[in-house]
Amino acid sequence: MIEKDPPESVSEATTHRLSLLLRSLRVLDGEKVGTISSQQLAERFGLNSAQIRKDLAQFGEFGVRGVGYHVPELKARLKSVMGLDRVRNVWVVGAGNLGQALADSKNFNSEGFRVVALFDSDRRKVGARSRTGVPLRDVATLKEWAAKEKAEIGVLAVPADAVASVALLLRDAGVRAILNFAPITLAPLPDVVVKNVDLTLFLENLSFQLAKSDAGTRPKGG
Ligand code: NAI
Repeated sequence: MIEKDPPESVSEATTHRLSLLLRSLRVLDGEKVGTISSQQLAERFGLNSAQIRKDLAQFGEFGVRGVGYHVPELKARLKSVMGLDRVRNVWVVGAGNLGQALADSKNFNSEGFRVVALFDSDRRKVGARSRTGVPLRDVATLKEWAAKEKAEIGVLAVPADAVASVALLLRDAGVRAILNFAPITLAPLPDVVVKNVDLTLFLENLSFQLAKSDAGTRPKGG
């Protein structure tokens, strides 16, 4: 395996594919598979073998011709490329239905991430703990906590009208990346990377596809 310096910029599409590849490698590693060819990887997980080779080529030379990729080695290298070889603290703001579910979910407390606190403006919730024991704190104390506990990622699970002010609070508390679940697009802030997630858009997409197929089966002129 020959490594090279990562490129200055990596496209969103590549990052997404690397995540999918890493997910596949985790499965294979769990099954104690030692080596696998890009062809086998592609067939098993519905990936594209030429694309895998192209994506990986941006970061070095991986795999041995005729043998394939060494699974544990490639997994470790990908984790390092994606910054997942350390644990990043996550704060979730908004301790309602969604915020508590996210804070307690295994996916948000897996390799690379740990939800260390929930914050809310509702004083009645402050002082409690989530189902798995994540402490629930007053959002007004966010900046004070920044001095004690560095969190790099903030998750927004607040109503849309609170997003802008909470995002600024997080930025001022040193948070460098925000995942916003509220149904309003948060623009990137200076020095803060932002991702907006709205599952309703997927629902609407499904509805659109159903509407198209409904139109195809509906009798003409009906
Ligand atoms: P919820 O009403 O159960 O919880 C919202 C929480 O935010 C409450 O605990 C409230 O006290 C707190 N809050 C309000 N203003 C705040 C502020 N300025 N600072 C800190 N905390 C504050 O709502 P739910 O169901 O948990 O949804 C949360 C957000 O996530 C909503 O914006 C909702 O539309 C959105 N959502 C997005 C989804 C997605 O696919 N992206 C899916 C489901 C919900």
